[in-house]
Amino acid sequence: MAVSASAPHLTHLIKRPDYDLQDAIQSNRLRGLWRLMTGYRRHYFGAIAAQAVAVGAKTTALLLLSRFVDDILFRDDMLTIVPFVALGFLLLALTEGGGSFTSNRLAAQTSEGVTLRLRNYLYDHLQRQNFTYHDTHPTGDQVQRVTSDVRAIGAFFTEQGVWMGRIVLLFVVNVAAIATIHAPLALVSSLVVPLVVMVSLFFFRRVNKRYEEMQTQEAIVSTRLQENLTGVRVVKAFARQNHEMERFDQENYKHFLKGRRLLIMHSLFWPTTDLLTGFHQILVLYLGARLALNGEITAGQFIAFAGMVVYVIHPMRNLGRLIVQASAAMVSYDRVMEIIRSPREPLGEAETPPVPAIRGSVEFDHVSYEYEHGLPVLTDVSFEVKPGEVIALMGATGSGKTTVINLLMRFYEHSKGRILIDGVDLQDYPRDFLRRSIGVVEQEPFLFSRTIKENILYGVDRPVTDDEVYEAARAAAIHHVIESFPNGYSTMVGERGVTLSGGQKQRVAIARTLLKNPRILVLDDATSSVDSETEAAIRDAIRQLLPGRTGFIVAHRVQTVMSADKIIVFEKGRIVQTGTHDELIAQDGFYQRIFDMQSRIEEELERELNA
Ligand SMILES: Nc1ncnc2c1ncn2[C@@H]1O[C@H](COP(=O)(O)OP(=O)(O)O)[C@@H](O)[C@H]1O
Ligand SMILES: [Mg+2]
Repeated sequence: MAVSASAPHLTHLIKRPDYDLQDAIQSNRLRGLWRLMTGYRRHYFGAIAAQAVAVGAKTTALLLLSRFVDDILFRDDMLTIVPFVALGFLLLALTEGGGSFTSNRLAAQTSEGVTLRLRNYLYDHLQRQNFTYHDTHPTGDQVQRVTSDVRAIGAFFTEQGVWMGRIVLLFVVNVAAIATIHAPLALVSSLVVPLVVMVSLFFFRRVNKRYEEMQTQEAIVSTRLQENLTGVRVVKAFARQNHEMERFDQENYKHFLKGRRLLIMHSLFWPTTDLLTGFHQILVLYLGARLALNGEITAGQFIAFAGMVVYVIHPMRNLGRLIVQASAAMVSYDRVMEIIRSPREPLGEAETPPVPAIRGSVEFDHVSYEYEHGLPVLTDVSFEVKPGEVIALMGATGSGKTTVINLLMRFYEHSKGRILIDGVDLQDYPRDFLRRSIGVVEQEPFLFSRTIKENILYGVDRPVTDDEVYEAARAAAIHHVIESFPNGYSTMVGERGVTLSGGQKQRVAIARTLLKNPRILVLDDATSSVDSETEAAIRDAIRQLLPGRTGFIVAHRVQTVMSADKIIVFEKGRIVQTGTHDELIAQDGFYQRIFDMQSRIEEELERELNA
């Protein structure tokens, strides 16, 4: 039975607009947020328009009330008119409700749409960053940006759109309506606006800063949490819970202080604006009452005015809330854009590779590399491998073996010298092609929380039969282990399923790489955490699989590397010895020392077993 290598696609669910979010990188943050809204502006303005309908209906109801009091109340034919007035109020209430509902709905569509697209983009963008990016950006912090900051931007589009529209519309419509009653009164009623705006702007600056501080601190807390959860075994093994708790508490307490400072700003803002709007309301109502008493406006007009002035003044109180939210959205916009600004690692998926298929010769020509400036990790490394040859890399931990592999995969870009595959410079190979052609079993393989079978099938882009999967697992000496699980190949790995030992993980990873059928096979310390018996089994399997492929084997056991065509010994990033097993044991050096030591240990073991 043929099975598909990848999970079913949900592309039909994911709205993929032809909008590239790179376009949303703007130095002006408001313009940037505006760009983020691309494709959803119709919804956004629809929300505001629906809000206008709702506000219009509300104010019309007040005007109707004023007419009712002045013209209809106490008239002889009042009772015949009342049903029509009641119907009018009902229709206006329905219109208001409908407008409000539509507005909220459209606003939600805007913000959810923007959020969906932004998150998908960030996810994709993050997984397309190079390793240097991931080395320098803490995971928890990135998670924080993709979740919390995106949420803040989303909230901005819902609330901001609806509320801003509502405040402005309520203000304009009601001031205009008051103006039809009494123009100077309308002017006095709008006095509150510049005052509230001034107070809000005063707070805006401060809130903005506080919020940014708090968000940054929250990222630190997330990072710490994430690290501790990932490293929970180490924490437990060293009984460092109390120490870690203290460290966490410190950061969390800082977050508390920053959150409190932000809240204090809020709690100062509200009473200030409340006082302001409260006094203002008393003032205009007093003025209105005077006008009514003097007979300059009617009783009905005063009632309507009293209602309208509430709609002018009260929404203004929300201006502060909006400004706070806008400032949060701007801070979050910056934090999210920091990710989007960082360029993707070009994978060159669309490029045609310089050769149709790799044959497998590899040459390092005076290659040097440093991860961090001034700290050379590889110095002047040169070696050559012919197609089909097996080459072993040896050397102490930290001597640069993994770095050689990292450069070969273009995980990191070498700065000096040349690396050639089949005589073509590595830079001319699209990364995507390169990584498909080279199979690596990493030093610390990672398995996904999926079934074992899905893990083995990972990254295989051709239809594969179950038998092929079993065969790869057998070759990696893991088939019988998987079969022993109650659910066999359907057993879940990780948090939701079985916990595999380090050696078992490595063997699943080997099966996964073997199934890829790569021309160049790299085993980076892949057998370091299995017992020597299993290692022997894997060694046999690999020996069968290696013919026809170029193999890089990083290992510490002489037994594993001795049959290689060439053994290279690294010391502090330099090649210190090169040769076959026989050549190297004849030389004074690292290899001979390791060989002697391991032979001695084995002899001793044997003696003990035979004793
Ligand atoms: N991503 C990295 N950033 C900075 N330094 C690194 C990174 N990876 C490895 N190094 C450093 O490079 C040196 C060689 O590491 P590595 O190639 O992993 O050695 P090996 O695989 O031989 O144990 C070490 O000193 C290590 O600390
Ligand atoms: Mg290594």
